[in-house]
Amino acid sequence: MDRELLDAQAHIDDEEAQLRPVSFDEYVGQHDLKDNLRVFVGAAKMRDESLDHVLLYGPPGLGKTTMSMIIANEMGTHIKITTGPSIEKTGDLVALLTALEPGDVLFIDEIHRLNKVVEEILYPAMEDYCVDVIIGKDASKRSIRIDLPPFTLVGATTRAGDISAPLRDRFGIVSKLDYYSDDELRDIINRTSQVYGMPMDDEAKMELARRSRGTPRIANRLFRRVRDFAQYYGDEVITLERTREALNRLKVDDLGLDDVDHKYLLGIIQRFNGGPVGLEAVAASIGEEPVTLEDVYEPYLLQKGLIKRTSRGRIATDLAFRHFGIEREF
Ligand SMILES: Nc1ncnc2c1ncn2[C@@H]1O[C@H](COP(=O)(O)OP(=O)(O)O)[C@@H](O)[C@H]1O
Ligand SMILES: [Mg+2]
Repeated sequence: MDRELLDAQAHIDDEEAQLRPVSFDEYVGQHDLKDNLRVFVGAAKMRDESLDHVLLYGPPGLGKTTMSMIIANEMGTHIKITTGPSIEKTGDLVALLTALEPGDVLFIDEIHRLNKVVEEILYPAMEDYCVDVIIGKDASKRSIRIDLPPFTLVGATTRAGDISAPLRDRFGIVSKLDYYSDDELRDIINRTSQVYGMPMDDEAKMELARRSRGTPRIANRLFRRVRDFAQYYGDEVITLERTREALNRLKVDDLGLDDVDHKYLLGIIQRFNGGPVGLEAVAASIGEEPVTLEDVYEPYLLQKGLIKRTSRGRIATDLAFRHFGIEREF
């Protein structure tokens, strides 16, 4: 990546870091996950053991990375963060594992993208806290076993279906993160407004919550943009009117759908007569990657009942037609 892109990424990371809750109490929603983890973390601490391995899955921006940091925090240990695709060789993983302190959390984001050889090193590491490494060459080649400290692997993925059964089976705790309710997002926005010291009217918070696609990352991102509009126009408090104006200018509609959602839905409706149509065909027609549509866009549209997945392809529902005020043709 070039310098400017790196700086931009660092900037985004900083902004997210500033807003990340650090304890179960501050983490809004996901009650099933949180309540269970409280018990598992508490019990592990009583036994003075490391927490069992945790797999978190669900669409981007719902709080997987945040939760992994909270786990380490609540366990009173440290976290090492890496991603599946960045671990290229088995040696990279062994280096990470051997550097862990007892009880540490190793967080592997996008764990579905680990390569097979690296993944196989994880099996004994997770199960028996050891790795087998091959040393030497030709005739002197042999395998030695390295013991690891007890640790907790936290894996995160947007595609649970792409994780192999042997890897999945080695996680003691597997949890799906769900989209947040409007009330939960309002609470998150409330906290964000406090962190930034920029007050917002209650109806404005609710409006922003409703238009944030059930996703904390989007709520926070939109909050920053709405705050820009408010500050630019000299408001001391972010009002409902300003919020609506800003969101409209950002092309976020009443349901929280953005440009890509619109292109995707209108693609199915207008070019494919509402479907059924294969994902690849819609993706090609609007110039988006199929995986992006499948991981980032479709889950929300499915949840909102705007599309359906059938064996013959995607279908735009009546609700989607109505959303755009288009009559279905037969
Ligand atoms: N449950 C939550 N409560 C409050 N803020 C949250 C919550 N989940 C996520 N966030 C906010 O949303 C942002 C994105 O969350 P993140 O953990 O990076 O998502 P993911 O890893 O699932 O893509 C974080 O910066 C955090 O501020
Ligand atoms: Mg993440």
